[in-house]
Amino acid sequence: MSTYWINGGKCLRGEVEIQGSKNASLPILAGSILSGKKSVIENCPIIRDTIVMKDLLEELGCKVAIEENCFTIDSSQCDKEEIPSELMKEMRSSIILMGALLARHKRLVLTYPGGCEIGARPIDLHLNGLRKLGAEITESHGFIVCRTDRLTGCEIDLDFPSVGATENIMLAAVLAEGRTIIRNAAREPEIVELQNYLNSMGAKISGASSNLIKIDGVEHLQETKYRVHGDRIVAGTYLCAAAITGGEITIKGVIPEYIRSTLHKLQEMNCVVKVIGEDSVYLKAPQRLRAVNTIKTMPFPGFPTDMQSQIVAALSVADGTSIVIENIFENRYKYISELTKMGAKITIEGKTAIVKGTKKLLGATVEAKDLRGGAALVLAGLVAEGYTTVEGVTYIERGYENFVENLRNLGASIEIRDERL
Ligand code: UD1
Repeated sequence: MSTYWINGGKCLRGEVEIQGSKNASLPILAGSILSGKKSVIENCPIIRDTIVMKDLLEELGCKVAIEENCFTIDSSQCDKEEIPSELMKEMRSSIILMGALLARHKRLVLTYPGGCEIGARPIDLHLNGLRKLGAEITESHGFIVCRTDRLTGCEIDLDFPSVGATENIMLAAVLAEGRTIIRNAAREPEIVELQNYLNSMGAKISGASSNLIKIDGVEHLQETKYRVHGDRIVAGTYLCAAAITGGEITIKGVIPEYIRSTLHKLQEMNCVVKVIGEDSVYLKAPQRLRAVNTIKTMPFPGFPTDMQSQIVAALSVADGTSIVIENIFENRYKYISELTKMGAKITIEGKTAIVKGTKKLLGATVEAKDLRGGAALVLAGLVAEGYTTVEGVTYIERGYENFVENLRNLGASIEIRDERL
């Protein structure tokens, strides 16, 4: 088992190029099944989750070639209808294959998805949406069996603007007969990316980034080449790394509009933030960060649940007390008991974290229990006095490409250690 070993207290300075977005890449890779042709996806991050998706696509019969950050998927031989449960368990986003496979084969069998245990994460909105499009779905002994004679466009009102459900419905509706309308759709940038990718193959989708998406079904899709945008959560993580260490950073390759809510909070914390051109952001941290009144995680354009842990790590050393409310997932505070081992003064009451800033954190051995919580522990280690060992780094590797190398280039003292030695 590898761990990250950090000698804290170094100020992060410099530039970092932001990897392509994980949460945009995964549904796009799943969508490549729809055409039965070739899709070339550029700027895809090489991380555990995209490699699991590659394995899943290959299990389904696709040919996948990876060269640097370019994934070429040929889905002409995609003929399997069953998603292997071992791979399904590895990653929640594998549920996104449902809509695409149903549209392509009219039948599929799968088990419940895995991924980070950050809450109950039900899939009722996905299943209800697909049922409305004409799928017959039965669940028994842990298997979900979906079949349909044909998918037909319809109107779907989501009870909650779920990102995954919006994506699954879009993927299934692309080849359905007639028009599908999704109301109360998710407005996240990843939905815009999926729309743009599918439209580049000949789909007819409009409305992404608003809460009403229209999909006019088409009979066939074509080959395409598509470039994924920078990862807004990875961008936010590096900004927090600079903020927590009192550093100065320029991040490149991310759309500033996509990280506006994070930038706004970092400014409230007394950081100087400047947007440079179309795809760069500069941040200079004060000597000591300032607490913020309240941060509530919300669907986009609100503050992202995926940035909650990293901002809490930064607030744990800020001057004053901050209130953070996690509205999306009920189990997303598991990293806090680890942060308190390092001296953070945080108490949880239901979905509220009360973060009382302390002047210093102390190095300790801590364990990552999910992806973003793991990143937060690394950030805390960067500022802590002495040595921090972060265990469970496979979670972190699910979402961050060259994390250790990038942090070292920014001046951090961090290395990967193999604990079997
Ligand atoms: C969520 C985040 C997304 C993030 C991703 C990975 C939101 C709104 N979504 O997407 O930004 O990138 O995690 O961490 O912040 N729900 C149901 N039934 C369903 C589906 C969802 O009740 O069928 C509930 C969930 O329990 C949760 C909420 O809806 O409380 C948001 O879920 P959803 O957006 O679907 O989650 P992800 O797609 O995983």
